[in-house]
Amino acid sequence: MKKHDVIVIGGGAAGLMCAIEAGKRGRDVLVVDHAKKPCEKIRISGGGRCNFTNIHTSFKQFLSENPRFAISPLKRYTQHDFIARVKKQNIDFHEKTLGQLFCNESAQQIIDMLLNDMRAAGGRLRMRAEVTHIAKMDNEFHLTVDGDHYSAQSVVIATGGKSIPKMGATGFGYEVAQHFGLEIVETRPALVPLTFDPSMLEPMKELSGISVDDAVVKHQKTKFSEAMLFTHRGLSGPSILQISSFWREGDEVEIGMLPDMDLMVALKEARQANGKQEIQTVLAGFLPKKLVAFVLEQSGVQGRLADLSDKKLKAVSDQINHWRIKPTGSEGYRTAEVTLGGVSTNELDNKTMEAKKVPGLYFVGEVVDMTGWLGGYNFQWAWSSGWVAGQSV
Ligand code: FDA
Repeated sequence: MKKHDVIVIGGGAAGLMCAIEAGKRGRDVLVVDHAKKPCEKIRISGGGRCNFTNIHTSFKQFLSENPRFAISPLKRYTQHDFIARVKKQNIDFHEKTLGQLFCNESAQQIIDMLLNDMRAAGGRLRMRAEVTHIAKMDNEFHLTVDGDHYSAQSVVIATGGKSIPKMGATGFGYEVAQHFGLEIVETRPALVPLTFDPSMLEPMKELSGISVDDAVVKHQKTKFSEAMLFTHRGLSGPSILQISSFWREGDEVEIGMLPDMDLMVALKEARQANGKQEIQTVLAGFLPKKLVAFVLEQSGVQGRLADLSDKKLKAVSDQINHWRIKPTGSEGYRTAEVTLGGVSTNELDNKTMEAKKVPGLYFVGEVVDMTGWLGGYNFQWAWSSGWVAGQSV
């Protein structure tokens, strides 16, 4: 039986942060991960540049049954603390938009920083390691990892969510929680492209690859104003990914593709100035031609402006700025960036991330019911929750 003070299951963002902090406190830490390489999600994040935090992070950008649970971890280890860590390593970064910070060069720099810090703190990493058994006896945890027996005073579950199974995502963390009798908030894919039925997809097919720089996408009282992309399966791009975390089956979303424009006024002015112009010519000044053709087909309006009534102009303007559309589903965990739901925050102490019913068992990162908006919030949650657990394990 090999003994460690702490075994962290999952060598991703939250697990490594926890291992670093525990190691700095003199704890003997082993991180086990079943993948070939650690931190694969960091590597592919932010298009390879890792949107590692957001300068505006607060609990308000999180979805959970209890978003306020995040207040204390986010305050104890803030976005500014992580930024200071990145600066200390001389990793250059920039703000892309909306407070989102990205590496100038590569996400690998963040991975190297974490791995170096973990090794410097005495932490060890065992990759391609399958945990087949975990139990608590007296005040100790017993684990079987690839046939080897281990014991530890604390076990940290940092196995992330279910998104992108191809990269090693599993429901392992939820199974462990259930095994120890902890409540799970139902999980679903989030930050994910939305899909449509064939009758809607057919006319949209031509639009695949077209993007709208600033689209306002609404679901009930929630709205996001970011880019949107037409794909061969439906809609994607930041504004759609954001709203997908709020959307539920059977609901509509409303899309505005020229949100800063009073289109009705613009069309009436154009009609007055030059009534001979075709409506598609005017609209092609604002939107890609193929998209204009789609909008006009959907609203059933064609022809010269002079021949179009206010009602017809309104139909076109609504089709562009109040386009109500009912997705049939999402691309699912295959492409989702995160998983909504997870281990209920009711079960955890937010000062330590320890399970209240199972002393010594901790949950950090995405496996917890705490899901950020797109824009660096999910990594900040991984850093903050991992750091908090690292002070206690
Ligand atoms: P994470 O998933 O990072 O790590 C979990 C680890 O556990 C993995 O190494 C896995 O192999 C391991 N594991 C799983 N099951 C196991 C088992 N049974 N046994 C042993 N090990 C196991 N967020 C953000 O803030 N900014 C961004 O730019 C992006 N970009 C982005 C792009 C894409 C394509 C995706 C899919 C996701 C993002 N995200 C993001 C989200 C972000 O990657 C995610 O929220 C964090 O990585 C979560 O960190 P965790 O450490 O909790 O899990």
